[in-house]
Parts: sequence; C-alpha cells; structure tokens
Amino acid sequence: MSYNLLKGKRGIIFGALDENSIAWKTAQLAHEEGATFVLTNAPVAMRMGQIAELAKATGSEIIPADATSIEDLENLVTKSVEILGGKLDFVLHSIGMSVNVRKGNAYTDQNYNYTEKGWDVSAVSFHKVMQTLYKHDAMQEWGSIVALTYMAAQRTFPDYNDMADNKAYLESIARSFGYFFGKDKKVRVNTISQSPTPTTAGSGVKGFDGFINYAEKMSPLGNATAQDCAEYTVTLFSDYTKKVTMQNLFHDGGFSNTGVSQEVIEKF
Ligand SMILES: NC(=O)c1ccc[n+]([C@@H]2O[C@H](COP(=O)([O-])OP(=O)(O)OC[C@H]3O[C@@H](n4cnc5c(N)ncnc54)[C@H](O)[C@@H]3O)[C@@H](O)[C@H]2O)c1
Repeated sequence: MSYNLLKGKRGIIFGALDENSIAWKTAQLAHEEGATFVLTNAPVAMRMGQIAELAKATGSEIIPADATSIEDLENLVTKSVEILGGKLDFVLHSIGMSVNVRKGNAYTDQNYNYTEKGWDVSAVSFHKVMQTLYKHDAMQEWGSIVALTYMAAQRTFPDYNDMADNKAYLESIARSFGYFFGKDKKVRVNTISQSPTPTTAGSGVKGFDGFINYAEKMSPLGNATAQDCAEYTVTLFSDYTKKVTMQNLFHDGGFSNTGVSQEVIEKF
C-alpha cells in the first residue's frame, strides 16, 4: 500500500548492490511512494551488482560514483539535479566497507592502510557527500539526509572490528554537519542505527549468524529487517519529520535499551 509520502520528491540513493541491500529496498519503496531519484554505487560494485534491474523497475538513471572521490561526487550531484529537474529533497548514504574485516585482520592487528581506506569509505565519504551537496547548494529547503549505522558505535561488539570506530565517526559527522546544514539550508541530517541484517556487508562480519540470532532473542520486537529499515527511512524523507535532525535513531526492535531478555536467560 502506498501513502504517496514522497510524491514529487527527488533524491540520490547510494549503495544498492543487490536485492538484499537496505538501499535496494529503500529505492523500491521510495519509488512506490512517488519519489524520483538517481541510483549510484562504486564503479566496481556496478559490475558485480544488479543495479540495472533496479533502475529499470524504478525508472531511475544510474550514475557511478566512488563515494571517496570528490570529482565523482561533483559529477553525480550536478548531473542528478539536471536529470531530476531540480534540487534534491533526500539523500541516502548506505555505504560501508572494512578492508581489515575483509582480510580477516583482528582489531588488535590492523593494517593501517586498510584502516584508513575503510574509514574513508565508511565514514569520511559521508562528509564528502554532504560537503559536495552543500557547496553546490543542491539540497531543497526542508530536505533530509540519512546515513546508516550500527550500535557498535556505542557498545563493543568485538567482531565488528574497525567498523565500530568508523560508525562512531560517521555518527559524529551527522551531528556536526547537521548543525551547518540546519542553520544554513534548513536541511536535516540523521543516522539510523539498524539491527543486524543479512546483506553482503552484514554477512561479512565474523560470527554474523550468532550475532543476528542473539539480537533477535534480545529485541522485544525482534530484529528490524531491511524492509522495515526502508519504511523507517522513507518516513525520515517525508514531510512528517521536518524537525528531527542531528540524531542517531535506533531502529532495532528495542535491542539497544534491553539489558537481558527471558529467552537469553533461559539459554543459560
Ligand atoms: N547489514 C547489517 O547488519 C547492517 C546493520 C547496521 C547498519 N548497516 C549499514 O547499512 C549500510 C548498507 O549496507 P547493507 O547492509 O545494505 O550492505 P550492502 O553490502 O548491500 O551495501 C553496502 C554498499 O556500500 C557500497 N560501497 C562500498 N564501497 C563504496 C564506495 N567506495 N563508494 C560507493 N559505494 C560503496 C557497496 O557497493 C554496497 O552497495 C552500511 O552503511 C552498513 O554498515 C548494515
């Protein structure tokens, strides 16, 4: 069922790799809710992923961009405004990658070249995206920018590795840039802290199966799925959340405020 929540709104969606991606589900729903948008991903992901299918189904154009490259981002932002016929109402940053995790390096044995790369892709890219939008004055007043994060930014999950630090940095950027975007352009900036979700990025974390099952048993409402996340994200792009900004919003079925659940106690 559609509520036309995003009727006439324009945006950019980063990070739809395949049908499991949170960005993929968000694009599908944003389309159903009346939005038009440009899809983007890293050129290398373009070749591996199935983004062309999504573009066809949602009537979107694809503009490849490495989110760490200012040149790519400038091209993306300028062209998107042109293609969509006006300034942007929403932007979704749904990007994460740790080279240390990929290579199986422990948190206590990082290769700092990998650390820097992962930090650039997973955290600084959010600043780069916003700085490009800001400088090009590409956001419509009362627009909304959202990035996805995980609770390892606040509490330790050992196998989340250096992504925990990247997420803490990402959340801080949302607050800091949120101030300037709010003051100068009346644009809101938030992060959604999502439950563990079976996607390419999620499943890359060591011990993911244990991790997701534990969260499911701990959360009074159960884990939030990628579809649930898409639904929450669309509300943050809608006109009904205009004064929500500079927040890290937990979307996790109650996990973050649960000390222990009956199911977990029974396991012991
Ligand atoms: N899956 C989970 O358990 C979970 C939980 C909380 C938060 N998140 C966050 O949600 C977001 C989306 O991840 P997902 O779970 O949908 O997985 P995903 O693997 O489908 O998406 C990650 C995306 O990042 C893109 N990406 C990587 N490097 C890039 C670059 N240099 N430039 C542009 N794009 C690049 C990938 O191509 C991919 O599309 C990430 O920020 C992730 O950390 C995921």
